[in-house]
Amino acid sequence: HSPEIHAKSIVLVGLMGAGKSSVGRRLAQKLELPFVDADREIENAAGCTIPEFFERFGEEEFRRGERRVIQRILDGPPVVLATGGGAFMAEDTREAIAAHAVSLWLKADLDVLFERVSRRQGRPLLAKQNPRAVLEKLMEERYPVYALADLEVESRRGPIEMTVDKAYEVLM
Ligand code: S3P
Repeated sequence: HSPEIHAKSIVLVGLMGAGKSSVGRRLAQKLELPFVDADREIENAAGCTIPEFFERFGEEEFRRGERRVIQRILDGPPVVLATGGGAFMAEDTREAIAAHAVSLWLKADLDVLFERVSRRQGRPLLAKQNPRAVLEKLMEERYPVYALADLEVESRRGPIEMTVDKAYEVLM
């Protein structure tokens, strides 16, 4: 594969349930790069889970930690980085990503997102209200911003490998 790609990190953006972590892990294997999950890094740094973090310190503090963690990762050697769904909404994070990495939006429709988030707990933004309605609202707010990513790939229902292969192709 092309050396320019290897020289830069690849940052996956998209809504909760888009498959950023599952696609990211497999894409990293294919590209022979380390995989890093920003949410897990925040949890390790904080010593608690994301729902606990929201509960104790609130969303604003989470966003500050998230920006710092992503900045630090981007300053290091190239990786495939899965970001939390809100990360790309911060302008300074988008600038850091643009400076150091190639961004790839995993675009999924509401049904796919809803099906996937229903399989796993631990997303504080979806815990208190109707998750489908929240996702719909977040799609409206965030999709115009995610569209600023360098590349995009549809994340459809079915085997994750399909999305991994499409991501690999658009990166090459
Ligand atoms: C969030 C997405 C989550 C996590 C936090 C907030 C968001 O990550 O960072 O719950 O604002 O969309 P995933 O997209 O990996 O679920």
